[in-house]
Amino acid sequence: MRRVNDHAPRPAVLVTRRLAPGVAERLTACDLRYHDSEQPLGRAELLAAAAGCSALLTTLDDTVDAELLDAAGPTLRLVANHAVGTHNIDHAACAARGVAVSHTPGVLTESTADMAWALLLAATRRLGEGERLLRSGRPWAWAPTFLLGVELSGTPLGILGMGRIGRAVARRAAGFGMPVSYHNRNRLPADLEQGARHLPLDELLASSPVLVVTAPLNAATRHLVDAERIALMPAGAVLVSMTAGVVDEEAVAAALASGHLFAAAVDNFEHEPAVPAALLAQERAVLAPHLGSATVRTRQAMGNLAVDNVLAVLAGAEPPTRVSPPPPTAAPRS
Ligand code: GLV
Repeated sequence: MRRVNDHAPRPAVLVTRRLAPGVAERLTACDLRYHDSEQPLGRAELLAAAAGCSALLTTLDDTVDAELLDAAGPTLRLVANHAVGTHNIDHAACAARGVAVSHTPGVLTESTADMAWALLLAATRRLGEGERLLRSGRPWAWAPTFLLGVELSGTPLGILGMGRIGRAVARRAAGFGMPVSYHNRNRLPADLEQGARHLPLDELLASSPVLVVTAPLNAATRHLVDAERIALMPAGAVLVSMTAGVVDEEAVAAALASGHLFAAAVDNFEHEPAVPAALLAQERAVLAPHLGSATVRTRQAMGNLAVDNVLAVLAGAEPPTRVSPPPPTAAPRS
């Protein structure tokens, strides 16, 4: 843990992970506790480092619960999550303590949609298998029937979760001439739908030879795409999961093993960094280590947005990308 300026009686800010270049430097006017490492803090270290902080700049790996909030103590005003998702955070516990929660929406939309397409293309065109074959040194020969994939051009695309990222995935489909259907809790207004068709979930699954899942993880979406729902998809379908926990990873592995799914791709995992052995065993699974937003530009923008939230709160202002205001019954922080 690197402490910067800890001689001064300034608000303490804990940054739990190394940030993109130039971002943490914006916090040097604070008592900055910077975990300048790509590895997460252990729980005991996290609890100790949070003590007396005014703001915590956290990642999805940090469980923000009552224990951590209490370890930080009554000075804490903000949890600034370096992610668009906030399923690592106990919102009720934050609200009960008058602690605001912010996240980083918008700035990771395009890079994450690009990654969904990278995975969709890799899965449908069997790039992982092909690369592994070449690197293995095993003999191979071009043949009319060799490593044939699924052609995306003109194929209907289903999107589960038509928020910012889902809509960015849909925009890219126009270049492939793919008609888009989607499922969302609420139907979008026509200007946001951009010609995509809203369907009930099970109808979407049944009519999607190619499905991209971008719905955020919450209590209502956990394992929404389970074995039964995967069975609704057409035989030979391809499934891409961009949100950990919404798709049941074991069910995906089983559907690949049975041949019901032609291929699948998963960008982040429910129990990271663990990856289910059943998925690793599937040649037709394209597996990425949570790379959705991993570009220099996006990670700088995410870091800067998280820091903007911290600086706003330290200046007594409203965090610009607060997740939701605390319920009116929440006790004000004394
Ligand atoms: C990424 O997984 C995020 O929620 O930002």
